[in-house]
Amino acid sequence: MSEEGGGSPHGMWSSRWLFVLAAVGSAVGLGNIWKFPYLTGSNGGAAFVLIFLLTIFLVGVPMLMAEVLIGRQGRNSPLNSLRLLVQQHRRSGWWVLVAWFGMLAGILILSYYSVVAGWALWYIVLMSMGAFEGAAVATAQETYAAFTGNPWLVGICHALFLALTVIFIRRGVVKGLETTNRIFMPLLFVLLLVLLGYGMTSGGFGRAFDFMFDFRWEDVTTSTWLMAMGQSFFTLSLGMCCMMSYGAYVPSNASIPGTVAMIALISTGVSLLVSLAIFPVVFVNGLEPGQGPGLMFVTLPLAFGHMPLGALFGFLFFLLVSFAAITSAISMTEPALAYLVEEYNAKRSRVAVTLGVVCWFIGLGTVLSFNVLSDFTVDGSRTIFAFIDRLTQNIMLPVGGLLIALFCAWRLPRRVVQSQLGIKREGPWWLWQLLIGIVTPFSVLTIMVLGLFPCLLNGSCTT
Ligand code: TRP
Repeated sequence: MSEEGGGSPHGMWSSRWLFVLAAVGSAVGLGNIWKFPYLTGSNGGAAFVLIFLLTIFLVGVPMLMAEVLIGRQGRNSPLNSLRLLVQQHRRSGWWVLVAWFGMLAGILILSYYSVVAGWALWYIVLMSMGAFEGAAVATAQETYAAFTGNPWLVGICHALFLALTVIFIRRGVVKGLETTNRIFMPLLFVLLLVLLGYGMTSGGFGRAFDFMFDFRWEDVTTSTWLMAMGQSFFTLSLGMCCMMSYGAYVPSNASIPGTVAMIALISTGVSLLVSLAIFPVVFVNGLEPGQGPGLMFVTLPLAFGHMPLGALFGFLFFLLVSFAAITSAISMTEPALAYLVEEYNAKRSRVAVTLGVVCWFIGLGTVLSFNVLSDFTVDGSRTIFAFIDRLTQNIMLPVGGLLIALFCAWRLPRRVVQSQLGIKREGPWWLWQLLIGIVTPFSVLTIMVLGLFPCLLNGSCTT
């Protein structure tokens, strides 16, 4: 497909479909497969799922449209796109800070994301050795604890994952990603269906289904809202200009609303599917749904250990999870990478290696959170891992998203937004304005303030 309105200096997706694939590659990752199930488990199940769905469609989708449209209008790294738009439309230069904030969030997220992705790499090895064949629950739990308890091994896997990511990034986001996404994403989907099939026949499916969809108001707290909204940002890769950087490579003739809806549906579908595969195993084996970050690394090996051809499926599964994690990791670095390349005329590969090394060092805090420093807390209650995770997911991403929504709704001229989105009729335009200009910012602000300071609701803040 040819590009009419001038392309991006970093390359272009060769069609609308490749953008969908790349954006799905960014969205679908450890957030769906590892994080969503354990957050659902430790936040009461159905209440979390419902609020998650609500925030995905009311807040996430409009925000995703905003990011992509700003990127496509600017055609540069998020920072330079914002700079350009601010200058063109004579807006305050402060808006550019959003991009700085996003680049920082991306590096912080990648620092721990790559640690967990390193776990998945190690599980490829374990699976290929048949380590879980016929394994008991206790064995699966001990294997997880022994592995994460070994800082050297985890540190090496963490380095390995970052090295792999850097290799892909060096080829450029467009070239490096297209083949990966084209082959691995569909395969991952097929394997998820196999897992789901196992979950459905395992005997725990009914309980799992109830746990996820039997909604009770009394389970909802302000923190459920905050966690669910943070997760919807995380899973759609929002709030740190990541989708803005991908938006810069989208052909001018692709429809943004249609594309974005597809991305949100696929990503949400994967999250739900994985959980419907994981929770039956949890209930059948008497495990705790709220057992935390280890959930997937205990339940899925158990499931594989008990199904025919389990070692093979398990091997393939963790391989695909690692690929899904790489395609997400790449997208986290893209805003910083594209900016540094533009600004300093630096070589892509050199910037990629530097970012990889920086992330490895920051990630050591997370590596040690599961062993040597497991008793060390940053703020009195959270390990380094839990602290960075909460800071990024529940604070930095929502704040970033809020600012992006406000910029798009109130600072960009109507004709720019309208032509980017291709919305011509008054009705849909009004709906869009209402969502991005009022509903989204208002919900994000309320959820964040009440989630961080629940005392405001019962007036006990001063005591
Ligand atoms: N969405 C990815 C996942 O679910 C992670 C991810 C990629 C991300 N890019 C991001 C999260 C940008 C936040 C911001 O695994």
